[in-house]
Amino acid sequence: MSQKYILALDQGTSSSRAAIVDEKGKIVSISQEEFPQIYPQSGWVEHDPSEILASQLRTLKSVIEKAAIATSQIAAIGITNQRETTVIWDKNTGKPIYNAIVWQDKRTASICESLKEKGLENHVKQTTGLVIDAYFSATKTHWILENIPNAREEAVKGNLLFGTIDSWILWNLTDRKIHATDVSNASRTMLFDIKNLCWDETLLTVLDIPKSLLPEVKPSSYHFGDFELEGVKIPITGIAGDQQAALFGQGCFDSGDAKNTYGTGCFLLMNTGTKLQFSKSGLLTTIAWGIDNKIYYALEGSVFVAGAAIQWLRDGLQIINSAEETEHFAREVEEENSVIVVPAFAGLGAPYWDMYAKGAIFGLTRDTGKNHLIKATLESLAYQTKDVLIAMQQDATIPLKSLKVDGGASANNFLMQFQADILNTIVERPKNSESTVMGAAYLAGICVGIWHQDEILSQREIDRKFTPNFTDEKRERLYKKWLKAIERTKNWEL
Ligand code: G3P
Repeated sequence: MSQKYILALDQGTSSSRAAIVDEKGKIVSISQEEFPQIYPQSGWVEHDPSEILASQLRTLKSVIEKAAIATSQIAAIGITNQRETTVIWDKNTGKPIYNAIVWQDKRTASICESLKEKGLENHVKQTTGLVIDAYFSATKTHWILENIPNAREEAVKGNLLFGTIDSWILWNLTDRKIHATDVSNASRTMLFDIKNLCWDETLLTVLDIPKSLLPEVKPSSYHFGDFELEGVKIPITGIAGDQQAALFGQGCFDSGDAKNTYGTGCFLLMNTGTKLQFSKSGLLTTIAWGIDNKIYYALEGSVFVAGAAIQWLRDGLQIINSAEETEHFAREVEEENSVIVVPAFAGLGAPYWDMYAKGAIFGLTRDTGKNHLIKATLESLAYQTKDVLIAMQQDATIPLKSLKVDGGASANNFLMQFQADILNTIVERPKNSESTVMGAAYLAGICVGIWHQDEILSQREIDRKFTPNFTDEKRERLYKKWLKAIERTKNWEL
């Protein structure tokens, strides 16, 4: 019998990616394409949904070609995606009525304020597990319906569909037949009741969002529909938001297991099992995945700017040529860094939730050079992770044994060592750092019987463990400085 493969699609904030994974859980080929970021105004971030789709389809085709396999050998497709990003399209023409409003976009801050004024904070937390913030899809959807000519009329007539990026891709791959999402993505809309697993009528009414716009919500490992390629029908059997997919891909199946992904942002998720647990410390409660008729939950700390800060060093300040160089430059500063960079370029996420914070640099002296800035930017990723981990440990009853890491910046040994030092926790990096892609592949593969969930743990290999070295005094002193800097960036725009 010929070897079977899973095709995983990873539609991220900065690029569309695709990978072919074999039955042993090894990546055979990978393909990636960056696409343009659109910044129409300060604080606004958009993507062209047609560009998202086109780049995703190009990577899909090229990854199959690179793997040199027959279409008939692809047993299933898994989709994972940047979460919250909102698309509304016309179901008759297939055309988006506006650009996708990206999760980082802050244009709906005032809509969030009015929801708070209406006293909805507690309702949002108890129903959706989230905090009221422009980050989520709900207010973005409201904004499009209010601001795009004819949108509301067309929505009421039932001509429009809403989706997070997974739904947009699924609808297109299934020849416009299936309008669905999975529970993990639905849980990021701020419209979904994560306990009763349905759209929340109160929030739909307050935000004036017709129900006909919304996708059906399914488990994450589930046969959503088929993609026809060269006459072969390939089942789409896995969908999960990228951070939940990474948690799955890291094999964090037990409650207390946690991972941190260093992508555009930084997302620390801890599996809390089938029990719904609300945070008292500014974290989000979110659905990790739905599988085997069970719903698993997670606590999440979302940091908006991580890799994006390194991109800023490269493209904004132009003081590095590539992200990889940062490790070398950071090591050039041997002494303790007096500079602190707070990369609050999109406000502050968990645990602060401040839409009005702005980025800042502190501690500059006459001898500050680019290496100090680079080192401080890397360190800011670790400090932000510590903020979240402290909140997580306040909420979770189980202490964290080690932190599993993945994503682009997890390859940076300087950063990973500093992360272990500042957390005082072992940081564990897997050999295969493509946890997001693997999560999507596993969810899809499990559904078609390629793997059992327990097999996945045996496929995971560790590349390196970083052990903490700082004294308590040093760790506390540095962290105190960071907290002081954070305090000074808060509410900058108010
Ligand atoms: O919540 C936003 C997150 O899903 C984006 O992930 O990997 O595209 O930065 P990434």
